[in-house]
Amino acid sequence: MDMIALMRSFKLDIFMMQLTIIGFGNQAKSWSQNLKDSGFPVLVALKVNSPSIALAHELGFQVVILGTKEFYAQNAFALLTPDHTHDEFMQEHGPQMQAGSVMLYAHGFSLVKNKFQQSFPQIHHILFAPKAIGSELRRQFQLKGKLGAVYSLEHVQEEATQLKDWVFELSKNLGINMGPYPTSFLRETRADLYSEQGLLCSLIPYTAGEMFSHLVDSGTEPELAYFECWHELKLIVNAMVDKGPEGFFDLISPNALIGSEKGFQKLITPEFKKNLRNLLLDIESGEFDQEIEKANVEEIRHTIRSRWSKTALMKTFHQINQDEK
Ligand SMILES: NC(=O)c1ccc[n+]([C@@H]2O[C@H](COP(=O)([O-])OP(=O)(O)OC[C@H]3O[C@@H](n4cnc5c(N)ncnc54)[C@H](OP(=O)(O)O)[C@@H]3O)[C@@H](O)[C@H]2O)c1
Repeated sequence: MDMIALMRSFKLDIFMMQLTIIGFGNQAKSWSQNLKDSGFPVLVALKVNSPSIALAHELGFQVVILGTKEFYAQNAFALLTPDHTHDEFMQEHGPQMQAGSVMLYAHGFSLVKNKFQQSFPQIHHILFAPKAIGSELRRQFQLKGKLGAVYSLEHVQEEATQLKDWVFELSKNLGINMGPYPTSFLRETRADLYSEQGLLCSLIPYTAGEMFSHLVDSGTEPELAYFECWHELKLIVNAMVDKGPEGFFDLISPNALIGSEKGFQKLITPEFKKNLRNLLLDIESGEFDQEIEKANVEEIRHTIRSRWSKTALMKTFHQINQDEK
C-alpha cells in the first residue's frame, strides 16, 4: 500500500516511520549511528556478501539483504552508496519497490543525471543532504556541534506536507541544528560540485601543499611549516565559521590584517576570479558532466595519491601524528 495511504488509514505515527539505510560507508554509518542513538528506527540494507554486515551487526544494527522480500517490504530508504552506483541500483531494485515508497538522496547528482523521477514516478524522491563529511556528521552529533542540511521535496507528489514533517523529524534526530533549508536537486548538485572544485578539495589542500614546500625549501623546519600551513587551517576555519567574516577579521592581529590585504590584492586577481567563475560555468553547461563520463576514477585516484605520497608534507604529517601524546 502507498505509504501515505498507509499513514492515513492506520494513523501511523509518521515520526516513527523506519528508515532503511542502504550501504554502510562514510555517510551511511554516521546516519545509522546518529539515528539509532536518537531512538529513530533504522535498518541497514547491504549486499548478500557485503564485508560490512559483520560491522553493522557488531554496532547493534539489524541488517536486511538487498533484493530480498524483507527489503522490498520496506517503504522508506536512504540511498547512501557512491553516486555512480545509483543508476544500476535503481534499475535493479526500483521496479520492485512499493508504490509510494520514499527514496532519500544525500546528494542531488545521480537523480539530476539519471532523472529517476521520470523512470520511477511511483517513488517519492527526496533530497536530504547534511552538509558534512560522514566522519564529522558523527563527531559533531556526539559533541552537539553545529550541523547544517538542505532538502528538496520537488519530486514528492501532493502528499508533501506529511513527508516534510517526517523529513524534519529525521533531520532533528540526525543532529541537524541549522536548517534544514530548502533547495532543489539541481542547485544542490551544482553548489556541491563547485565548492569541491574551487575551494574545498583543490584550493585549500594544494595551496597549503605549495606553501609548505616553499617554507621547507627555504630552511623552515617541516614541523613548523606543517603547523603553519596544514594544522592551523582547522583552527582558523573554526574561528571563521563561529565568528562570521567580520568577526573573523576582527580577531586577527595587525600584521595578519596587513598581510591579509596584501595576499588578497596579489592573489585574488581578475584572472583568478575568471578561472573560478569558469569552473561554475563548466558545471552549469554540462561540460563537467562529460568530463566525469570520460574520467577513469581509479587512474585519477592513483595520480593524486602518487602526487602526495612521497611529499615532505605527508612524511611530516605521519611523524607528527605518531608523536602525538
Ligand atoms: N563521503 C561523504 O562524507 C559524503 C558527503 C556528502 C554527501 N555524500 C553523499 O552520500 C552518498 C554516499 O557516499 P559515501 O561517500 O558515504 O559512500 P561510500 O562510503 O563510498 O559507500 C560505501 C558503501 O556503499 C556500499 N556499496 C557500494 N557499491 C554498492 C552497490 N553497487 N550496491 C550496494 N551497495 C554498494 C558499500 O557496500 P559494502 O559495505 O558491501 O562494500 C559500502 O557500504 C553519496 O550520494 C555521496 O554523494 C557523501
